[in-house]
Amino acid sequence: MRNLLPFYAVLAAACYSATPDPVRPAPGLKGWILDTDHSSYILGINARGGLQHIYWGSRLTTADDFAASHFPDTLQYNPVDIGNEEYPAWGGSRYEETCLKATFNDGVRDVFLRYVSHQIQGPVLTVVLKDAKYDLFVTLTYRVYPQAGMVSRQATIENRTAQPVHIESAQSGVWNLPADNGYRLTSLVGTWGEEAQVIREPVQQGMRVMESRRGHTSHEANPWFAIDYHGQATEEQGQVWFGALGWSGNWRISVEQTHEHQVRVTGGYNTFDFDYLLKPGETLDTPPFYGGFTDHGFGEASRLLHRLERTELAPHGAQSRLRPVWYNSWQVYGTGVTEANQEELADKAAALGIELFLVDDGWFHLRKKTDAGLGDWFPDTDKFPNGLLPLAQHVNRLGMDFGLWIEPEMVNPNSDLYRAHPDWVLNFPGREPGQSRGQLTLNLARDDVKEYLYSALDKLVAENHIRLFKWDMNRRLADPGWPSVPTNEQRQLWVKYTQNLYQIIDRLRARHPQLEFESCAGGGGRADLGILQRVDQIWTSDNTDALDRLRIQEGFSFAYPPKVMMGRVPPSHSGRANTPLEYRFLVAMMGSLGISLNLSTITEEETILSRRLIEFYKSIRQTTQNGDLYRLASPREGPVTVNQFVAEDGRQAVVFALDGSQQFLRPYCPPARLRGLDANARYRIRPLHESKLQEKATIATGAYLAGHGLRSEERRVGKECRSRW
Ligand code: DGJ
Repeated sequence: MRNLLPFYAVLAAACYSATPDPVRPAPGLKGWILDTDHSSYILGINARGGLQHIYWGSRLTTADDFAASHFPDTLQYNPVDIGNEEYPAWGGSRYEETCLKATFNDGVRDVFLRYVSHQIQGPVLTVVLKDAKYDLFVTLTYRVYPQAGMVSRQATIENRTAQPVHIESAQSGVWNLPADNGYRLTSLVGTWGEEAQVIREPVQQGMRVMESRRGHTSHEANPWFAIDYHGQATEEQGQVWFGALGWSGNWRISVEQTHEHQVRVTGGYNTFDFDYLLKPGETLDTPPFYGGFTDHGFGEASRLLHRLERTELAPHGAQSRLRPVWYNSWQVYGTGVTEANQEELADKAAALGIELFLVDDGWFHLRKKTDAGLGDWFPDTDKFPNGLLPLAQHVNRLGMDFGLWIEPEMVNPNSDLYRAHPDWVLNFPGREPGQSRGQLTLNLARDDVKEYLYSALDKLVAENHIRLFKWDMNRRLADPGWPSVPTNEQRQLWVKYTQNLYQIIDRLRARHPQLEFESCAGGGGRADLGILQRVDQIWTSDNTDALDRLRIQEGFSFAYPPKVMMGRVPPSHSGRANTPLEYRFLVAMMGSLGISLNLSTITEEETILSRRLIEFYKSIRQTTQNGDLYRLASPREGPVTVNQFVAEDGRQAVVFALDGSQQFLRPYCPPARLRGLDANARYRIRPLHESKLQEKATIATGAYLAGHGLRSEERRVGKECRSRW
């Protein structure tokens, strides 16, 4: 009998994984199991109709585990603490962060949510909750992404009462980790030119808030988190709970440890200056909040998130095209673009093998410097006397797509638009709105502003063969007044501004199915899972110095896939002047490759090298853009950065090893022990430079490459020192 038990367990496991339903009722509990290929998430209803979190972690293989789960009845009118409520609303003795805070018209300021109904439709579970007395409803929507190993959650708050309700906090949900001490938080912070810096800190009793109050996602913090246990996780190993918010406006994620060691990650709209007046019959949707769990470290957490982003969230999902090699005029011409200089540049770009030619800032009405023209989205007649179409046609004849820079949310006081509609900018009556970069912000929450911008951009696309818009935003929101609506509705701006931004892009994409977008906000100020569902690429940073980029790109890769991470090979004046051209190329190639060299002044030798490297890039980009990323050595931890990419079909792997140290001679470069390869397959090794690889074998098995690894040559003195392979 004893011998039979393990055998039985194996059989049960086999049966279990043959059950593909990602959402199913939890047997023996009033609740549901959400299974991904890598994790399980369980929630249920307690005896008083309260929704409770039960489990989030490794995938469970038997339903018997659930019976043992902690399932207390804490949803009383006066619970002593928040316990593990799944979507707590503020009321009673709740002192920790809640997901919903509302004030009813009669002055009642608390909410007690009770289960009403639920529905399962394939990978989607919806649970409807309602206040115990008032007709305030909350519908929670959970979607399981089995292969990506992730779950998204989102809340819709609906006012079915006859009176308006003030919503003062609307969160997407709270992720509960197993109660314990000793967790560690990893997050991304930064500033302009130094985005996505990885920081780590202990999770302790109390609360750490990550947020943006700037009206966009921000350079200063990014809506992504990862939490591991006792600092034990590495790139390869250890339990990691991670997640990201899909919102490009004011957002907030709090990581909190209660006095009872409950660790809770709550995310949604920033509560700062938040007051959403929900009229009878109206609803408010929170942003989606995505969460995942892995037993295989930060590397696997990123790969799962990348898979979700690439295959599920990206505008064309798994069908989206490989990102073309693109040219950007900004670092060479600034606002001085003209039809003549862009045509000349386009000829040279096409000859290098570039596939998309983008005219950056400076092409529109009155734009001689950055102090005029924003808002007037038609070509400047001095610079483009024939409009943009002849240039676009020229670019197309050369075999390239045509791209154009825009900054629709902004207006210069020196513009026809501002002269016609001074009331369209964000402002408080009687106060002078502050300018930044000579510009004011349009109140995009207004529907007339939205319609104006949609029509202007639609016309531009329809008339000029535009394949890609680089949508920029070079200042933060300030003076967020909206004088034309009643005072108690003005703060809806924080939500409606971003909703209207999304709507414009969605409508343009629907009308012009070929149209693509780059998200940019003075560099990487608008990178998040909300904008990612609408754009094809993200401008990582205005800092294009190759060495600085190593850290920025590493941080970016924790949350976002290399495919959308736009790199640019900068001219030598935009960064350390002595960084070799090849090194600048290799750093930019770890994302989607862009070029900003001055093609009129680069030497013949540089032109030949650029052409060769672009050709090389095209031979590896299927792997770097759509494959799996393994961060083998971090620029934060040593002199050498090593990144490996493995193709979806496993047939190609690409390894970049880049020396970022300041040491002149012999910095130590550890062997790159490759990951994600088939141990028994034989791989042909093709170094970019034979001389830079110590490895003499030209064919090796995956097992050898993982165990022995590849070792580069010691650095030599001289021009070539920076790129290793
Ligand atoms: C900031 C962007 O990040 C740059 O790439 C460039 O487009 C400028 N704005 C143009 O004003």
